[in-house]
Amino acid sequence: MTTQLTITKPDDWHLHLRDGDALDTTVAFTARQFQRAIVMPNLAQPVVNTQLAAAYRQRILNARPEGNTFQPLMTLYLTNNTRVEDIRQAGESDFVYAAKLYPAGATTNSSNGVTDVSALSPVLDEMQKQDLPLLVHAEVTDPDIDVFDREQVFIDKYLVPIKKNFPELRIVLEHATTEQAIDFVLHNHLTAATLTPQHLLFNRNDLLVGGIHPHNYCLPILKRETHRKTLVNAATSGNPKFFLGTDSAPHTTNAKENQCGCAGCFTAHAAIELYAEIFDKENALDKLEGFSSFYGPDFYRLPRNQQTLTLHRESWQAPSHYPFGKQTLTPFRQQTPLQWTIK
Ligand code: NCD
Ligand code: ZN
Repeated sequence: MTTQLTITKPDDWHLHLRDGDALDTTVAFTARQFQRAIVMPNLAQPVVNTQLAAAYRQRILNARPEGNTFQPLMTLYLTNNTRVEDIRQAGESDFVYAAKLYPAGATTNSSNGVTDVSALSPVLDEMQKQDLPLLVHAEVTDPDIDVFDREQVFIDKYLVPIKKNFPELRIVLEHATTEQAIDFVLHNHLTAATLTPQHLLFNRNDLLVGGIHPHNYCLPILKRETHRKTLVNAATSGNPKFFLGTDSAPHTTNAKENQCGCAGCFTAHAAIELYAEIFDKENALDKLEGFSSFYGPDFYRLPRNQQTLTLHRESWQAPSHYPFGKQTLTPFRQQTPLQWTIK
């Protein structure tokens, strides 16, 4: 039995760090194990241009623990008002690595998102020219579409046409949750998907059976077991189109345990540990390094990290809460011991 595993230091290709006081908690957790992270732009005031991205990047760097070399990779938030010029500036900067498409109303802080995807064509055209990857929250928001079907409908209605119209545009289908998402990525050139710990570990029973489990609630929502199995197969297949993106998305304990609880699971306290457990269960620990440390930088055309990280098979339990600004945060899977640790 493998009791210790050393891999090239991983990166997180989908992360929410939030802002203000929260950065003291979030940056430290991620910087402890990841060398780089693609930082999502869905702040209360979204990061809609390169200037805002530069300022946010500096706030993140200021929150980095002493001596740590973690690098935030910034992204822009696309809106109905994004201009071709905004994309040109992002492409020419050396710290914006992608732009994110949130359909308006699809998730946390998405009210400024895009309402008409077809009107984005000039922007997508410029992204294709700049070779700036498009990151997609692939869910429709149509109230008539069942919440469990929103990803597959978005793929058919929007992603397939986008790929057809912009064949050289690199696309990451973020936090993929369905067989249809895996299928889209497998069959389309220059596309990839990030996979989260929660979608690899849990299905919708973990959200809804035996009471409602608010700390397992995220968007896209957990799906049925057949989908989870497909995601696990993709993650452990060694196919470079699938790589690590935690979607660690902290909300205060109060905002999660609420009449209208927020979507998002905080996994950054134990991210690589959770992935190790998933790969271990599949007897695929030999595939963890590619998924965590190679395929992401390869897709983003960045160098792989030089440093290493060592995981030990040793059980531990996360505390019930972590401090989060002036409030607290409840970590994902707090009630079950974790199987791997970093010393
Ligand atoms: C994310 C958040 O809270 O910012 N929430 C989530 O459920 N995943 C946004 C997102 O990625 O959808
Ligand atoms: Zn996210």
